[in-house]
Amino acid sequence: MAEGEGCYQFLCILGGVTALFYLLKWSWNCWRGLKVYILSQIWHTDVRKFGQWAVVTGATSGIGRAYALELAKRGLDIVLISRSEKKLSNVANEIESQYGRKTRIIQVDFTEGPSIYPAIAQQLADLEVGILVNNVGMNYASMFMHFLDIPDPEQKITEVINCNILSVTQMSRLILPQMIKRGKGLIINMSSEAASQPQPMLAVYSATKIFVTYFSRCLHAEYSSHGIIVQCVAPFVVSTNMTHNIEVNPLVKSADSFAREALNTVEYSTHTSGCLSHALQHIALSIFFPSWLRLSSFCIHHMKNYAQGMSHIKERMSHAHSKEE
Ligand SMILES: NC(=O)c1ccc[n+]([C@@H]2O[C@H](COP(=O)([O-])OP(=O)(O)OC[C@H]3O[C@@H](n4cnc5c(N)ncnc54)[C@H](OP(=O)(O)O)[C@@H]3O)[C@@H](O)[C@H]2O)c1
Repeated sequence: MAEGEGCYQFLCILGGVTALFYLLKWSWNCWRGLKVYILSQIWHTDVRKFGQWAVVTGATSGIGRAYALELAKRGLDIVLISRSEKKLSNVANEIESQYGRKTRIIQVDFTEGPSIYPAIAQQLADLEVGILVNNVGMNYASMFMHFLDIPDPEQKITEVINCNILSVTQMSRLILPQMIKRGKGLIINMSSEAASQPQPMLAVYSATKIFVTYFSRCLHAEYSSHGIIVQCVAPFVVSTNMTHNIEVNPLVKSADSFAREALNTVEYSTHTSGCLSHALQHIALSIFFPSWLRLSSFCIHHMKNYAQGMSHIKERMSHAHSKEE
């Protein structure tokens, strides 16, 4: 056989194996996507099997409230944790009258740091907690900004870390032991698409959310053999107070439909975008807006201009508003 012919055959085999590899990989990803985001909406776990009570942090509005209502609808009693006692009572009344489930409210501010956890532990001590939804989270501004432009940075940075990181670790520490004792439990941790790649101009928020992602993956690896599932949910945009109740459309989910669809993915995936629309956006963004582009000075320059433009528009609108009044 001529040398050139041998080389040609080798390249053909190499090309064939590579094509087969990508075909199998693509088919496997499609099958997983079909299972996690479509079949899960038809056949899903009966969440009552984890235990009688679900604890939801940040439960008075947005995604947390939607999870609380959805879990009550599926037959669990709910512990609601947030800052405002009035809002907590309203959601508790809604759950009791609409779904006939028991509720308990705990009023705390997660930005306060370690001092709040003994009181939370005391109020949960007599309950069989099957599900913990670590949902509470905050951002320091509604706009992209450089790290040093964070308003009142000394205080704000600590508050964001206490709320987004410490709450998840401390609440898990409090509730995991009784789950392990019973050999079952589900912890749902709310991360964000902003954690899927580094997000400059949202540095602290993005970094707190990748903490949540890694913490969830590690915790699941450590405790799955004890019957514990730790699921990390990383949504794209959901219409809530945090996103100024932006209009719902095929890309932006309402909190209720997001919580319903995301809850259906339990036991299908331990790391999920929560719903098909957000999963597709995640794939599109990782192809068309890769991290080298996000981190480039070109992109940061444009994000800065965009943020400045938006804040001028906001200023003008609030000026016009105050003149009208
Ligand atoms: N919305 C999105 O597009 C989106 C996207 C990705 C990830 N997420 C994540 O999803 C989670 C929920 O976001 P959301 O949009 O539903 O937010 P949201 O509408 O602003 O609701 C936040 C909830 O947390 C409570 N809360 C806020 N700060 C608190 C504090 N310091 N201590 C105790 N409770 C506090 C609020 O109630 P009170 O005011 O009564 O305390 C409210 O119930 C967050 O972790 C967020 O990072 C959201």
